[in-house]
Parts: sequence; C-alpha cells; structure tokens
Amino acid sequence: MLDYSDLYRDLQGTPLEPWLDSLPNRISKVFSDSPHGDLGRWLDVLRRLPEITPSATDPSADAVTAGESGDCDPATRQSIEDLLRQLHPWRKGPYRILGIPIDTEWRSDWKWNRLKDKIHPLDDRRVLDVGCGNGYHCWRMAGAGARLTIGIDPSLLYTIQFHAIKHFMGKWPVQVLPLGIEDLPRGLETFDSLFSMGVLYHRRSPLDHLLDLRGYLRQGGELVLETLVVEGPPGQVLVPEGRYAKMRNVRFIPSPATLLSWLKRCGFANARIINTTLTSPDEQRSTDWMRFQSLGDFLHPDAPHLTVEGLPAPRRAIFLAEKRD
Ligand SMILES: C[S@@+](CC[C@H](N)C(=O)[O-])C[C@H]1O[C@@H](n2cnc3c(N)ncnc32)[C@H](O)[C@@H]1O
Repeated sequence: MLDYSDLYRDLQGTPLEPWLDSLPNRISKVFSDSPHGDLGRWLDVLRRLPEITPSATDPSADAVTAGESGDCDPATRQSIEDLLRQLHPWRKGPYRILGIPIDTEWRSDWKWNRLKDKIHPLDDRRVLDVGCGNGYHCWRMAGAGARLTIGIDPSLLYTIQFHAIKHFMGKWPVQVLPLGIEDLPRGLETFDSLFSMGVLYHRRSPLDHLLDLRGYLRQGGELVLETLVVEGPPGQVLVPEGRYAKMRNVRFIPSPATLLSWLKRCGFANARIINTTLTSPDEQRSTDWMRFQSLGDFLHPDAPHLTVEGLPAPRRAIFLAEKRD
C-alpha cells in the first residue's frame, strides 16, 4: 500500500473534502484487487530506498531535481540507482536524483516548455492532471506555483515511480493516485486548471472524455488538452482500423479544427490551439532507462512522415479552453 495520509489531511477543509468519503476505500481497493504480479517487487523497491535528505529540490528544472551526488556516499548512490532501475520502463521525465540522471523515453520537458508560458499562471491553483504517467508534469506544475496538484493514472508502475521520486523530493504539494478518470466521483467541480495530455486518443468516446473533464473544472477554470492530431479540414478524423505507430488502443485522431468544434459542442468557451508539433525521434526514443522500442521503430523506414502502418506520423497539438456557462 502507498501512504496518502498527507493528502487526506490536506483535503480537509477544502472544496475537495467530499472526495474523502470515497477516496481512501477506492485506493485500498486498487491494491487489494490488483492482478499485477510485479506489485510486491515494486513496493519492495520503495521500502528499500534509503532515507536521505537532499541538499535542495527543484521541481521547476527541466530535469526535476532532488539533491546532488555529494549528498550521499558513492555506494549508497549506486544502490539507489540500482533500485530505481528496477522500476523500468521509465517513460516520462527527465529527473535527476542525487546526481543520477534518469534519461526517460520522452523529453517531457519539451511538451512543458511549449505550454508553460501560454496557460493561465498556476500560482495558488488546484490542478488535476488526468493520465499523468509518473507525474513528471505534476512536479512542473508545483514548480510553477500550484497550491495542490493531483495527478491520476491507472498504471500502478507509474504511480510507484512517482512515489520513488517523491521519496527524495519531499513535501511538495503533489500527489499521484493510481486511478483512472472513471474512478473520480461526480460533483468535484472544483479544479482551477485541468490537464489531459496524451489521453484523448485512447478514449472510446472523445466527446464523453471532454464532458467528463468539464465536470471537474470550476466555473472559469482552464482546460489544457494535448492530443494526437492529423492535418485536415473541419470534420476530418482518422480512425485507425488496426494499430497506429504499433499502439493497439488509438481510437480517434481529429484535425485541429475538428477538435475545436468538439470543445465548443461540449460547452467550452474560448477554445484555441497554442501549439502543433510533429514528434521527432529526439523527443521520444529508447534510452538506457527505457530499453523497449520507441518512435524510431514506429516510423516507416523509407518514409518517416508515415508510421510503419502507412498512416500520418505522430503530430501533437495543445489546446486551451475555459469552462463558462
Ligand atoms: C501517453 S501517456 C501521457 C502521459 C502524460 N500526460 C504526458 O503527456 O506525458 C497516457 C497516460 O494515460 C493513462 N491512462 C490510460 N487510461 C486512463 C484513464 N482511463 N484515466 C486516466 N489515465 C489513463 C496511461 O496509463 C498513460 O500513463
């Protein structure tokens, strides 16, 4: 089990307090029902991380940083690196823990740098990051001044990676919960900023996903939505029949104009696009910390503007919109 007592205490007396009626049981159930055979091994990694107080922590650095190599002796540092490596694959980052560079599959800092100066400033805001992976962007949100950042992701491994990082980062107001969006209770219309990045194309019903997101924002709150897009006119949507870039569960890839119209239909105001980027194999690649295949293996060998299936290569766009009646 993971310890969320800090979070439960922090939610008391806030607009999120009603969540406490169901949250502790819901989290216990994730662990009691978890069929994942590696869970015990991952939790053991967390238990074995030594107690060290880093000289400083910095969640606003491109590589989220806890301490430096001089904060512990070389043997302890090596044992920490060995333990962190047991949580392979590390997809989102980078991190730098006691001088150990965790070179993740994704340069997630590039995505953050594309949006950080365009979103509503996060100072003092309550933020929800849906599908947060191991919580890399949650740290960046805390570094940008958020009062409380809660990430949710149904992957237990990514949640445990988050706790391994939190072990060294200490008491920043950041939490990652092992939950999917379907596990959130209705009526939590309280978040000031809500991020959904890299999730929409996995959803069976993209419009329902947008409506769900709207349901967790307060009036006037901001949605930051990042997803795969295809070039094309309003109304165009790619629905891959089989795999897309070797991924099995990619369902809808709209053109930017189509997604803007979906946002409007779902009741969002001031919907706009702030960035479009063709993903490069410099941004998503295999590394020593993610030894499986990556983007370079998913692109067509003779035509890198296509995936191996002959579909348009991954292009991602970031949208902002507000909840206003
Ligand atoms: C492509 S990753 C994106 C991670 C991160 N948001 C980013 O932009 O780098 C998509 C994440 O969504 C998570 N996910 C899948 N189904 C979900 C659900 N029902 N609710 C919330 N997250 C989900 C996956 O576990 C995965 O970590």
